[in-house]
Amino acid sequence: MAKIALTGIKPTGNPHIGNLLGAIKPALKIAEKYHALYFIADYHALTSVKDKQALHQQIYGVAATWIAAGLDPEKVVFYRQSDIPEVFELSWILSCFTPKGLLNRAHSYKAAVDNNLQNQNDPDMGVNMGHYNYPILMAADILMFNSNVVPVGQDQRQHLEMTRDIAHWFNQNYKKILVIPEALIQDNVKTIPGIDGRKMSKSYHNEIPLYVPSKQLKKKVMQIVTDSKEVHEPKDPENCNLFSIYKLFAEEKEIQTTHQQYLDGGLGYGQLKQALFELIDTFVNEGRERYDYYMNHTELLDQILLEGASKARKIATPLLKTIRQTIGIEK
Ligand code: TRP
Repeated sequence: MAKIALTGIKPTGNPHIGNLLGAIKPALKIAEKYHALYFIADYHALTSVKDKQALHQQIYGVAATWIAAGLDPEKVVFYRQSDIPEVFELSWILSCFTPKGLLNRAHSYKAAVDNNLQNQNDPDMGVNMGHYNYPILMAADILMFNSNVVPVGQDQRQHLEMTRDIAHWFNQNYKKILVIPEALIQDNVKTIPGIDGRKMSKSYHNEIPLYVPSKQLKKKVMQIVTDSKEVHEPKDPENCNLFSIYKLFAEEKEIQTTHQQYLDGGLGYGQLKQALFELIDTFVNEGRERYDYYMNHTELLDQILLEGASKARKIATPLLKTIRQTIGIEK
């Protein structure tokens, strides 16, 4: 049987080009080789998103994005975390195997505490228990489905290590029931630069949005930061954010020509931005149509996600039963 690849997508913002190239496309590639379970981590988002309308929209936005980008729900089990009650029961069970000290050391919790201490606040100010327990819920997401590999970004490495530790403690106390997962961190996927040259990220507000109307896309592309060299001046292709982004979308021949034009002078940044906009616009066009279609038919998304949940529960339900029997809650 094919090994299981599982990953969670936190619906905390509108997906951007960096998500598509850095996470979605690579995950769809992985899905060709594994039995893939990809889910929307809506209850993880609740730790930070407390606006009803925003959360609702982002859940659908993420679902529509992945489908528009090529996720085939016949091949990938695609579901919402909140539709799998087993995960939350397992989360409690695992919390009884998780030393509090482990969570004290979680990077994101520690960062919040350090920040509070620096500002002479109470160490736990603004930290809710959802933040604190985040890694346990994530361990439950993973362990509930016998996951073998978990494709994630570098920032999730510690969470995966915690998941492995927790599974190990559980297995040691009873017997080897939980599958110990491996993180699948794709170092070969390069970082996608944002319009200011730093890594494209919602937290830097430098993202190029994905399936938005052409006009909005164009506006963003025109905001890509460059130096102030004039049209006739030679330019530096090695240290130009605009050129770096251009290279992600252009054909090899176009890249070479543009490279030469940079060295020779005569190509204006405005002109290149226009060319880049057209490339991205064409690149996203097909997906954008599908995205718009699903966002206008969210009942189809509900249907896809519910079907996914019922497939996923075929793994979760019997495994939870075994776990309950193993710990003595059930006969
Ligand atoms: N914490 C992950 C992130 O912020 C999202 C996530 C939740 C996840 N549960 C998961 C990822 C389980 C992989 C496996 O990106």
